[in-house]
Amino acid sequence: MRIAVIGSGYVGLVSAACFAEIGHDVISVDNDADKIACLQSGEVPIHEHFLAELIKRHHRKRLHFSTVIADAVRASEAIFITVGTPQSETGEADLSFVEAVASQIASAIDGRKVIVEKSTVPVRTCESLRQTLLFNGALPDSFFVASNPEFLREGSAVSDFLYPDRIVAGADDTFSSSVLQEIYAPLTSGSYYRGENVVPGPVDSKPAARLILTNAKSAELIKHASNAFLAMKISFINAVANISEAVGADVTEVCSGVGSDSRIGPKFLKAGVGYGGSCFPKDVQAFHAVATQCGYDFSLLTEVMKINSEQRKRFLRKVRSALWTLRGKRLAVLGLAFKGGTDDVRESPAISIIDSLLKDGAAVNAYDPVAMPKAKAFFSPQQVTFASSSYEAAAGCDALLILTEWNEFAELDLARIRGLLKYPIVVDGRNLYEPQQVADAGLVYYSIGRAAGVPTEIASPAEVRAYTPVDILTRNPTRAVSAA
Ligand code: UGA
Repeated sequence: MRIAVIGSGYVGLVSAACFAEIGHDVISVDNDADKIACLQSGEVPIHEHFLAELIKRHHRKRLHFSTVIADAVRASEAIFITVGTPQSETGEADLSFVEAVASQIASAIDGRKVIVEKSTVPVRTCESLRQTLLFNGALPDSFFVASNPEFLREGSAVSDFLYPDRIVAGADDTFSSSVLQEIYAPLTSGSYYRGENVVPGPVDSKPAARLILTNAKSAELIKHASNAFLAMKISFINAVANISEAVGADVTEVCSGVGSDSRIGPKFLKAGVGYGGSCFPKDVQAFHAVATQCGYDFSLLTEVMKINSEQRKRFLRKVRSALWTLRGKRLAVLGLAFKGGTDDVRESPAISIIDSLLKDGAAVNAYDPVAMPKAKAFFSPQQVTFASSSYEAAAGCDALLILTEWNEFAELDLARIRGLLKYPIVVDGRNLYEPQQVADAGLVYYSIGRAAGVPTEIASPAEVRAYTPVDILTRNPTRAVSAA
């Protein structure tokens, strides 16, 4: 199938490379001429596992890059729209990029085309898309509109695309439904997985991908409801973590007990500093706005967002309490990306936490394996010193904070960290260690929803109190701290 993918951001670029990988002829289009020039010269502007390999494998064969929408539309049977849908000031998704692209597509339609909405959009966008195409001169019988939401996660986007839990094809007519089925046939029949040199899948990958056929509105709703549900799971466990902390339970044990119920499942139950990224914060807000427009007060989502923003503030209170005062202190921050495995810092809890630490008068040494170039746009060199390793960041600091769940931060040489830090304090916003393990290395360890780990040598009652963050729920010294 000849496919155009309009928009070469995370979703667009990954989709274009993966469509080429499963055998289609693809033109990836973006109006950012620098980005397209960079892709044409073999550079890949985002950090995504396997993406560079796939682009290299298919570029100039089944994958081409262009800035001209009209040419791509004329050359293709299916046109996927994957442009950004940022949050507007009122919380709704801003669909102006989708509209702008639709008007350009309309004037280039020269035969029967299927226009597929793949950006995350509110329910009923397909209706507006169809109307915009007609208003811009496309003939009613020259095109069909469908919805094919994407569920890929940054960091594992290629694998998520090629080994999906499900493919949702939302169409209101048989033609676009059959086109979508044909496009995904290599995955739904399993033929791709039996080929040679395929991208390796997860250990539990299925022999064939599951296809769910729906109408367009249901497909649109599936996307928003899925992201909102996952965000709700995270906020739920963060709320449980706060109770665990107050009563002396361990949230990781609670998660393992709760998550073993097959009706609940263990995924997206990791307590931490709250969710970030370009999707959950925006999509929960946008879904809430959709509900309001429909006359439904989806107050559950208001609480999901409230718990999420409170989680960052609680972490900051923990840091302030552990360090007594922040003005004039220097803190090592490990992790800038909104999660491990990506260089994306959009809505990253780490960025907003560093911002607050700076406002409190602390200085910051930061390190992230890949997100530093993007994070540098947020801070001046006077505000944040960027280090070339975790150990360089820790040297001479008053405490170490862990804000992103990179694997390498879970494998630190803790004795070395102890030797580098001025005060033996680690505040972990991602629960990467067992408290006892860190305490055994001579460090006082605070994490999320668990008792602090305190080294034996400083565990006299008075000293434990000195290192004990004030319990944030009750504003009393926490009972959750246990001496090693
Ligand atoms: C999310 C969804 O997981 C994808 O299915 C969806 O396609 C994508 O949004 C999108 O709409 O485009 P992504 O934003 O890449 O993917 O990241 P996630 O892996 O979902 O993580 C989101 C945030 O939640 C991160 O900040 C992460 O650290 C946090 N998180 C995740 C937790 O705090 N706890 C968890 O247990 C899981």
